[in-house]
Amino acid sequence: MTTLVAAEAASTPVDGQPHVRLATPADDVFVEDLQAIAFGPGRFSRTAFRVRERFPIDPSLSLIAEVDGTPCGSVWMTPISVDGQKGYLLGPLATHPNFRKRGAGKLLAREVARLALARGDGHFVLLVGDQDYYCPLGWDITTPGNIQFPGPVDPTRVLLMADDKSLAKSLKGSIAAFDAGQ
Ligand SMILES: CC(C)(COP(=O)(O)OP(=O)(O)OC[C@H]1O[C@@H](n2cnc3c(N)ncnc32)[C@H](O)[C@@H]1OP(=O)(O)O)[C@@H](O)C(=O)NCCC(=O)NCCS
Repeated sequence: MTTLVAAEAASTPVDGQPHVRLATPADDVFVEDLQAIAFGPGRFSRTAFRVRERFPIDPSLSLIAEVDGTPCGSVWMTPISVDGQKGYLLGPLATHPNFRKRGAGKLLAREVARLALARGDGHFVLLVGDQDYYCPLGWDITTPGNIQFPGPVDPTRVLLMADDKSLAKSLKGSIAAFDAGQ
């Protein structure tokens, strides 16, 4: 409940503009369809999807963006650990093509990272994405090859947000279960 209040407090609905709320089971079909539109049939072979096959997403960090009450975007978060440190893997992040360039994607990314780090049990938010999109939002470039995924990733797209700004360069290891970290 605290999370819901926090999410809504950060994004009060304004006509024609995206705001975020927690996802509910009633959003499952929308999210499934959106991910199919955004990533296509090849999405199941993406390395980030393989992480989510091994480690479950945290539904209390699944957010929906809406414009005037219509769902238009979604983001998930997977609790993980790397080298004994707990954190989160962000993704997939997607906005419906009819609602792009209205700020929904950046709002979802910022808000889900804020909520995850505010819990205090994870030290970082990792993702695989474009530097030009995520670095202005607070993500930093990691040391190429330091963080091992269960499949190939472009190391230049492995980005990390943390209060400890040195962590992006220093974190090194394979992605493991959240419970394996401290
Ligand atoms: C990427 C995505 C989530 C952006 O959603 P959005 O709601 O349009 O994002 P925002 O409105 O917050 O931001 C739009 C801005 O980011 C830019 N942008 C979008 N994708 C970008 C990218 N990959 N790299 C750099 N900039 C990007 C847009 O050109 C736009 O710029 P502008 O504000 O100067 O016009 C959406 O395009 C999408 O769902 N794409 C397909 C799935 C995907 O690639 N997800 C991200 C995986 S890492």
